[in-house]
Amino acid sequence: MSDEKNKSDQQKSGVSRRSFLKASGISLGVPLVVGHRVINVNGQEVKLYGPTKTSITLTINGAKQTVEVEPRVTLLEALRHELDITGAKRVCDRATCGACTMIVGGKAVYSCTVLAIEAQGKPITTVESLMQGEKLHPLQQAFVDNDGQQCGYCTPGFVMACKAFLDKNPSPTPEEVQKGLGGNLCRCGTYMGVRAAVLQAATMHKGGKNHG
Ligand code: FES
Ligand code: FES
Repeated sequence: MSDEKNKSDQQKSGVSRRSFLKASGISLGVPLVVGHRVINVNGQEVKLYGPTKTSITLTINGAKQTVEVEPRVTLLEALRHELDITGAKRVCDRATCGACTMIVGGKAVYSCTVLAIEAQGKPITTVESLMQGEKLHPLQQAFVDNDGQQCGYCTPGFVMACKAFLDKNPSPTPEEVQKGLGGNLCRCGTYMGVRAAVLQAATMHKGGKNHG
């Protein structure tokens, strides 16, 4: 957009960056993005990060890990590139496929669209947490038993989405399983196997073998 057009649009809306900053109480002399510091916005202290790397602490699979990242870095990138936790996959990188699914603060999230700094203070659970030594988690075993994977690229995200789903609904109906897993895509078309795996894991749970 040209400067002239921008100016004219601002005039039409009646809000310019300058007037917005003034109304927000932010001094025009204070850069919006600076090193880790605090500014006062309308009487509230707001922490600013960046643009350079800043130190953050994440709680991943029960262990605290400190990492230096720029504020723009996603949770998925921080784990894969900085901490070598590579179970979650980057496929679409835009909240469409679910290959990057992790459980953050008890909810399944697309980690490609969560900033690493936003995930501080919340428990982060990844697919790496599920195996106990050489023993597969019952949900992982159910994927194997029901041919719930082919190329396997979507599988870690699917397993975590299934885990989050079963944590909330331990005895689902087939219809609930289909609906509950609607946020994950499999290019190999393993949906029938994945749904059967979830129902198997739920049955094991009822039989006293916790999926959890
Ligand atoms: S890689 Fe995150 S939703 Fe596809
Ligand atoms: S098993 Fe290949 S994309 Fe799902």
